[in-house]
Amino acid sequence: MDAGTSRITFEPRPEHLNSFHVTHGGASMTLLDVTMAHAARSLAVHMGVVTIEMKTSFMQPAKGPLTADGKVLHRYLDAIYEEALTRSKDDIWSQIAYLEIEGQQVSAAEFRGIAGVMLAGGRDTVVKLFTGIMWHFGKRPEDLELLRSHPELIGPAIQEFLRFLSPLPVMNRTVVPESSTTELPDDRYVGMSFISGNFDEMVYTNPFEIDFNRGRNPHLSFGFGPHTCLGNHITEIEAKVFLEAILSSGLSWKVTSEEIRYHQVPYTKVPDHFGSIKITAH
Ligand code: HEM
Repeated sequence: MDAGTSRITFEPRPEHLNSFHVTHGGASMTLLDVTMAHAARSLAVHMGVVTIEMKTSFMQPAKGPLTADGKVLHRYLDAIYEEALTRSKDDIWSQIAYLEIEGQQVSAAEFRGIAGVMLAGGRDTVVKLFTGIMWHFGKRPEDLELLRSHPELIGPAIQEFLRFLSPLPVMNRTVVPESSTTELPDDRYVGMSFISGNFDEMVYTNPFEIDFNRGRNPHLSFGFGPHTCLGNHITEIEAKVFLEAILSSGLSWKVTSEEIRYHQVPYTKVPDHFGSIKITAH
C-alpha cells in the first residue's frame, strides 16, 4: 500500500470456492473491502477506517488467483486537478478547473467538491441511460434510423429515454428533521416514486412504448421541486453528444445476449439493472 493506493493478491483455498469452483461472494467482497481500507489507511496510518457503503458489479466469475487494486478517489481527483491545470486536454476537468465564480477561479477544494458531486450523482445514472439507449436501438433499429432521418427528434428522444428508463426510480424524504436525537420513528421515511409518475396512464398514452413523438413529456426522472437534480442540464448535454456520435457513426447493431433485471409489477418491461448486454454491429 502506498499514497492512497493498495494491491492485494489472494489465492483462494478450496473452502473459499462455491460448488462451481468460483470464489465465494463473501470472500471476494472481503477482498474488495480490505483492499479499499488499505488504500484509505495508507494516507493516515493511525486512523481506523470503516466501510459505510460498498457497491459492486461482478462482470465475470472470479476463478483462480485474484488481484484487487484500490485507489482513493480524492487522491485520484487531486491528480486529475493537477493535470487539468496544465490544460493539456480539452476535457470536462479542465473546464471545471478554470471555472470562475464571482470572478475567482475555483480552488482545489472546490474542484474536488464539484468533481465529487459529478461522479457521485452522474455516474450510475448516466451509465444506465446510455446503456438503455444502446439496448433500445439494438432491439429497435428503426428508431435509430428515425433519428438519423429526423435529427430534430434528438431532443424529444432524450426526454423519452429519460422517462422510460427512469434511471433513479425512487428517492426517500424523511418527515422528521434529522438531528442528533436517537429516538427517530422507524416510519420517518416517505418514498417518492418518480417511476410511477413516468408511467402514469392519465399523462401518457401507451406509457410502456418508447415514442419520440410524444410532444409534451413532463417526466419526473430528475425529481421535482426544490431538490430537482442539479445535473439535469449536463446530463442532457452528455446525452446529446452521445446520440450525435452514434448517429454519425453510421453503425447499426443488434442485441445478441442480455442480462437484465426488470422492475416489479407493473413496470416489468422497464429495465432496473443492466448486468450486461452484448451487441453485434453491422
Ligand atoms: C441520467 C442522469 C441523472 C438522473 C436520472 C438523475 C436523477 C436525480 C434525481 C431523481 C434526483 C433527486 C431529486 C429529488 O430529490 O427530488 C437527483 C438529485 C441530484 N442529482 Fe441527479 N440525476 C442524473 C445525473 C446527475 C448528474 C450528471 C449530476 C452532477 C453533475 C447530478 C447531481 C445531482 C445532485 C447534486 C442532486 C441533489 C440535488 C438536491 O438534493 O438538491 N445528477 N438526481
